[in-house]
Amino acid sequence: MDEHHMRLLIDLHENANRQGPGGDQETRLAIVLSGLAQQKNLKIADIGCGTGASACVLAEQLDAQITAVDFIQEFLDVLDCKARAKGIHGRLKTLQASMEALPFPDEALDAIWSEGAIYNMGFERGVSEWRRFLKPGGVLAVSEITWLTDERPQRVQTHWQKEYPEIDTASAKIKILEQNGFTILGYFPLPGRCWVENYYAPLESRFADFLRLHNNSLEAEAIVKAERDEIALYKAYNAYFGYGYYIAKKLTD
Ligand SMILES: C[S@@+](CC[C@H](N)C(=O)[O-])C[C@H]1O[C@@H](n2cnc3c(N)ncnc32)[C@H](O)[C@@H]1O
Repeated sequence: MDEHHMRLLIDLHENANRQGPGGDQETRLAIVLSGLAQQKNLKIADIGCGTGASACVLAEQLDAQITAVDFIQEFLDVLDCKARAKGIHGRLKTLQASMEALPFPDEALDAIWSEGAIYNMGFERGVSEWRRFLKPGGVLAVSEITWLTDERPQRVQTHWQKEYPEIDTASAKIKILEQNGFTILGYFPLPGRCWVENYYAPLESRFADFLRLHNNSLEAEAIVKAERDEIALYKAYNAYFGYGYYIAKKLTD
């Protein structure tokens, strides 16, 4: 992706609370399933945090130091402001880094959180490469695009096969976690409102300003069209795909 295209995507997404489907309630449910609420002085990384919706919930709910990681500094700047405004900046630090080269020592973390971001390096690779950063018994909580049925219409199959060939059913994703030394603590699919009300509706409301800011350039128009196509696909086929939230515990070697 060239720099200008990246700049446009940052402009479209930096003033949003979320850069993908999710919900505070669902982050809290994942926290309950993780069993972390009973523990003290936790060290947690939120990988691909964007402007930090989940990182803020973690900092508010847990006795923890949160390191919120993203490779886009503009998103982290928004999160820093938000954390100060909420009075949680003492417990939440941002870190610009690639999820493919995380700077943590082995077994440094009690939990790794990642909502809608592990796909950037691929689910299986992320699960196997991030594992070493977790203490034995540490928690991995990730949300990931997931087939909700065993079969589906050809059009949606073809779309996702091309966009993200690792898309699969929850049972297949759970198997990957098990094969990589984790035991499952919980799984749930994100409800539709996490897509429509929490992500797509605010995104659609930013299109007009975004196009105006970029003088309706062809590239800006193309970005909006791609987002509109994705929204239409979700509305037509949400019975077949969604985000699955996977909460797993690292087994001791
Ligand atoms: C779909 S957004 C999800 C953001 C946030 N977790 C949320 O749910 O609102 C994916 C995030 O991953 C970040 N990202 C993509 N590739 C990355 C990489 N290689 N290293 C670190 N962050 C990355 C993007 O900048 C973006 O903030």
